[in-house]
Amino acid sequence: MSRGAHPRSRSPLPRAVRVVAATAPLVFWAVIASAGMLAAWGLTATAAAPAPVIDGKIAEGEYASHYVARSIGMELHWTIEGDSIYIGLRAPTTGWLAVGWDPSGPIMQGEDILIGYIRGRELFLQDYFANSSVTHANDVSLGGRDDVLESSGSEDEQFTTIEFRRKLDTGDRFDRPITPGTHTVQLAYAPGDDFVTYHGEKRTVVRIDFLAGAAQEAGLFARPRSLGEGSDPLGPWLLTVATGVLAIVVLTAACLLWHGRGERRPLR
Ligand code: HEM
Repeated sequence: MSRGAHPRSRSPLPRAVRVVAATAPLVFWAVIASAGMLAAWGLTATAAAPAPVIDGKIAEGEYASHYVARSIGMELHWTIEGDSIYIGLRAPTTGWLAVGWDPSGPIMQGEDILIGYIRGRELFLQDYFANSSVTHANDVSLGGRDDVLESSGSEDEQFTTIEFRRKLDTGDRFDRPITPGTHTVQLAYAPGDDFVTYHGEKRTVVRIDFLAGAAQEAGLFARPRSLGEGSDPLGPWLLTVATGVLAIVVLTAACLLWHGRGERRPLR
């Protein structure tokens, strides 16, 4: 029996249409899934936002971007304005809380750290540097500078909030500049009103692109406030993904058609 004798295989055009029709839902879902993944990774730009007020309170929408580390219940908010970064930290503790970035490793080593706590009505916030994998010292004691330009904080029975501003690039050798691209960021807090109490499990690591307003940690929540606002690079991403998927579909269709032509050769 000739395998090429089936009447529906005679014209390549209907077959091409059938192949494209069959793969169209695939293209659609690939594009939707890609959009979902990109949104989940927080690959969106921040909208221009006014500089936050450093008053020890983080108001809804005050910062351009934020990341909530759900595993430890800690919030990191940030806005980049001119040559400065404004950072707001909030955690369920009455002890210290800290943010650090760009460890060279292992663990915390080489990391630029800002750590602070509130005792009474006073904020103790210091510019630190992780001088070993599990210890840190303040920049001044190491021969560097304290580069916090403004700061404020508040505390109630459950939460501590700290806000501060520093330059994106301080020039201090014990600081790490905030540059375009992703940074490894560490968040932690502990119950002690000091700079030494071990945080135990209240620590986490996240990859953050401060300038793009994007954060990524598997299983944790990252939602730049600017999602859907301002300039949105999601469009070009989607176009690239859609073009790629379309190219795959066209190539698959072409292969199938070519294969189909081969099948119609009469058997000897
Ligand atoms: C206050 C003194 C501190 C001590 C004694 C300390 C000690 C340690 C130790 C022993 C570890 C390894 C075990 C573990 O994962 O828990 C560790 C890991 C870690 N620490 Fe600290 N730490 C201190 C401060 C900080 C600060 C200020 C931060 C945030 C900037 C921080 C963030 C982290 C993170 C995120 C990890 C896990 C790193 C990873 O698994 O890659 N620590 N710390």
